[in-house]
Amino acid sequence: MKQVAIAVDGPAGAGKSSISKVVAKELGLVYIDTGAMYRAAALYAIKHSIPITEPALIPHLDEIEIELKNQGEVQQVLLNGEDVTGKIREPEVSMGASTIATIPAVRLKLVDLQRDMAKKCSVIMDGRDIGTYVLPDADVKIYLTASIEERAKRRFLEMQEKGMECDMETLREDIRKRDEQDSGRAFAPLRRAEDAIFLDSTDMTFDEVVATMIGYIQKIR
Ligand code: DC
Repeated sequence: MKQVAIAVDGPAGAGKSSISKVVAKELGLVYIDTGAMYRAAALYAIKHSIPITEPALIPHLDEIEIELKNQGEVQQVLLNGEDVTGKIREPEVSMGASTIATIPAVRLKLVDLQRDMAKKCSVIMDGRDIGTYVLPDADVKIYLTASIEERAKRRFLEMQEKGMECDMETLREDIRKRDEQDSGRAFAPLRRAEDAIFLDSTDMTFDEVVATMIGYIQKIR
């Protein structure tokens, strides 16, 4: 079967990762979570008390080594060999990732890694700039979104399930701020690619979104 690349972009909390993971499993694709890479880079800065600004970070870029390892159903994120899969999900890291992602030198380093991964096998890659910048020739591009209310609600339920403390208002505000920063940056901002399929999942169930995406991908396979 021919090698394919599927690009999934959209705002924070739209369900890109959880949906893409299931689609990957169903279709035998390798799932690549590019947000995890920005999160790992931000965690490095936070751990070493490096301000997340271009002049402060550039001298440290070569110290940051990020690897994504697929271990069965779980994608392990390694930062300089250390498993940081859980740590990168903390709220402080989310905002740090959005800020570090505005720095072009950081993006260029991570985009190189992402393109290398997509060369090796069939992938479904999720992020903000996959269809517009990382893989402009992707076979299928999907822009997955939902209303901010719905995205905040889903995040809230997800965190409650994990036993993490949270409140709706704070979650909604974090999502809003990240979307604003991610779509407002100068270099490779969050945008729907002109040739991306727009998929609004506000009134859809998880399974409906999975089935719809699989339908789009099967058309080209
Ligand atoms: O997908 P996520 O929420 O884990 O991503 C965390 C942040 O990383 C997001 O707010 C913006 C940034 N990011 C990016 O700029 N480009 C990508 N391809 C993926 C993520």
